[in-house]
Amino acid sequence: MFIMKCPVGDKYSEGHLVPYGNLEISPSSSVLNYGQGLFEGMKVYRREDDRIMIFRPEENARRMQMGAERLLMQAPTTEQFIDAVKKTALANERWVPPHGTGTLYLRPLLMGSGAVLGIGPAPECTFLIFASPIGNSYKSGIDAFNLSIETKLHRASPGGTGGIKSITNYAPVFESVKRAKAAGFDDVLFLDEETGKHIEEASSCNVFILKGNVISTPAILGTILPGITRKSILEIAQDCGYEVEEGRIPVEDVLAADEVFCTGTAVVVTSVASITYKEQRVEYKTGENTVCHKLRTALTGIQTGLVEDKKGWTVHLN
Ligand SMILES: Cc1ncc(COP(=O)(O)O)c(C=O)c1O
Repeated sequence: MFIMKCPVGDKYSEGHLVPYGNLEISPSSSVLNYGQGLFEGMKVYRREDDRIMIFRPEENARRMQMGAERLLMQAPTTEQFIDAVKKTALANERWVPPHGTGTLYLRPLLMGSGAVLGIGPAPECTFLIFASPIGNSYKSGIDAFNLSIETKLHRASPGGTGGIKSITNYAPVFESVKRAKAAGFDDVLFLDEETGKHIEEASSCNVFILKGNVISTPAILGTILPGITRKSILEIAQDCGYEVEEGRIPVEDVLAADEVFCTGTAVVVTSVASITYKEQRVEYKTGENTVCHKLRTALTGIQTGLVEDKKGWTVHLN
């Protein structure tokens, strides 16, 4: 794993690679006491010619910087972030699965690691990246989600931290997801906290609906995570001739959609087979003949080097 530290108000020292292992951290660190922490998720892809590459790393760097501003932490510069990602990926190259079978997942973390007893930001931040190989858990045409709309709990509220990848956004959704899974669903869709009438996102992915030629997704208004897959799919969908819209999406529009799909680094672009809202269950088109599948193929083609990257989204590591 890669690790580097920074006294707040100063610069990051030269980071270094160390064997994956436990951290030594003060019990009075701000991350342990006050949740001053952020994470990112990225993948290293192996091409058919065996070279490895990453996808839009500057977007992860920027998202971490945005989060750090909100949580009063010091984030690495985009250059430092990408350099750390490259070093971690190359040091773990043997763990990048063969082309098409999986990816090496990278988990950058930024935390308030310095000791602080009074409630407030830490005097020192630690940035690290660890890695783990993962399989292709969600295969389009085979896998599709069954979602339930969560009517009891909310993930985010206006003015809160829903729009950044704060570690504090995740444990509070465990209960909703556990309840949904116990009832046979794969995940939940959260509603906006103000009205409870508009969909926002799932526990760890963004959501899109298709109606006719129009692809819509909830707008970035501070309560949903600005997903990098979301941003890429909006652009690819437009290139493919679809009309794209970002706005408030009422539950009724979701229930009346032709297709629904989720986007995220982990799920890539995955169809939603059904949504259950209160007692009503609505089913959607899934499989290889869907717009979701078309968009997924276009995106993964770029990510894995099967399609020429005309957008400059990929970074080769070797
Ligand atoms: C809450 C949430 N929404 C959306 C996403 C999708 O973002 P991305 O496409 O950048 O992975 C994630 C995962 O990172 C997430 O945790």
